[in-house]
Amino acid sequence: MNRGKEQFRTFRGYSLSEADGLTPGMEDYLEMLYRLSSGKTYVRLVDLAARLSVQPPSASRMMQRLSEQGLVQYERYGMIHLTEAGKKLGASLLERHHLLEQFLKLLGVKQNILKDTERIEHIISKELVHKIKWFVLYATQHPEWLDTFEKWVSTQQTASAGKAPGLE
Ligand code: FE2
Repeated sequence: MNRGKEQFRTFRGYSLSEADGLTPGMEDYLEMLYRLSSGKTYVRLVDLAARLSVQPPSASRMMQRLSEQGLVQYERYGMIHLTEAGKKLGASLLERHHLLEQFLKLLGVKQNILKDTERIEHIISKELVHKIKWFVLYATQHPEWLDTFEKWVSTQQTASAGKAPGLE
């Protein structure tokens, strides 16, 4: 890698350059719709709004946007149906969420797992998701390896009061 040619951008610059047409908010709604639609043919707007801790008018506006993208069928304050494209995308968003949650747990994260997952999932590249998937598969299929890693970390932590070297 030629470090001199790496192109730095601001956080917003990276976000714009990797946007797939869905904002983080749209991804959150779609992921939750997919969760709630499991085993059902439709989701009620009030249920969706309640699960995301938002007001129904905000959820309604977002449904209009998702319906413009062909991801849901929605009538104002009525039932919400995921289209085939919406189901496919919702399933992959939920899978990404579960994968990141599992990854954080394997790393030994104990606090704010949901909050960290919800934030990380919107900014992570596809390549990194795939690399994490390989890591999670390997770690879960080799518990003895994970055990060695955890023991090593805990001996290091005892010597450094819980902090990793060089970090505050
Ligand atoms: Fe999520």
